[in-house]
Amino acid sequence: MIDPRGRVMMISGANRGIGAALARQFHADGWLVSLGARDLDRLQSSVQEWADDNVSCHHYDAFNPSTDQAWIASTVATHGRIDGLVNNAGIGHMEDLQDLSEELLDEMWAVNVKGPLRLIQATLPLLAASGEGRIVNVVSLSGKRVKGTFAPGYAISKHAMLALHHAVRHAAFEDGIRVTAICPGYVETDMTSDFGVDPGIMIQAADLAETVATIVRLPNTATVAEILMTCEPEVLG
Ligand SMILES: NC(=O)c1ccc[n+]([C@@H]2O[C@H](COP(=O)([O-])OP(=O)(O)OC[C@H]3O[C@@H](n4cnc5c(N)ncnc54)[C@H](OP(=O)(O)O)[C@@H]3O)[C@@H](O)[C@H]2O)c1
Repeated sequence: MIDPRGRVMMISGANRGIGAALARQFHADGWLVSLGARDLDRLQSSVQEWADDNVSCHHYDAFNPSTDQAWIASTVATHGRIDGLVNNAGIGHMEDLQDLSEELLDEMWAVNVKGPLRLIQATLPLLAASGEGRIVNVVSLSGKRVKGTFAPGYAISKHAMLALHHAVRHAAFEDGIRVTAICPGYVETDMTSDFGVDPGIMIQAADLAETVATIVRLPNTATVAEILMTCEPEVLG
């Protein structure tokens, strides 16, 4: 297993939901965490309870490419290195196929695909430095299958994100960078709060975070390409 102490993990959308759980877990495991979110004040107050010198907060808005460059630059200025990147920030427009406008699709494309692509491209040279860089792409089971008539636009964007994930996995392998996608079903967060599904049956973000943090620490000789995690019987296809 790799030792997280002194290594820097960047996490997007870290102010709430899955991103917040990942931030707490990586921090608890000993990583230095560089957190990105659209609203810096909200991010800072969301981590106030547990943050210490091993936590830095930065502005990141997937709609604004200059913020990814600034986030990376200030992470290097603060911590001196970057060892890991978690592409967690994401949005889901759940409209049916007939109501899926190009504007809604463009928004999901910007946050779920283009933002992660830019962050990956910009961090790859830094991640290569240690020979043990890590990337986690928070995709979805909606990147693996289309669930009946449910949220086709979200599924289109997450299938694209999974393709990006596998492209990076191959491109970065020789530099010692290992890339894992987490593809969960329902996780109890704001995103699923109006789905009409009993929150009691949903995956807990803390359980997902613990799983991801364990996989990320595996040595280069044990790489996990995809984690499929669900809270209900699923037939992929
Ligand atoms: N919940 C689920 O069932 C589930 C299942 C599979 C996959 N996922 C994926 O897991 C990831 C996290 O979702 P979640 O459930 O934690 O949802 P969430 O509670 O709605 O959180 C979404 C996060 O993404 C951020 N975000 C949205 N638009 C952004 C933008 N333009 N730039 C930067 N950050 C932006 C949000 O920031 P603000 O607070 O500023 O809006 C927030 O931090 C997403 O990629 C989602 O697709 C979720």
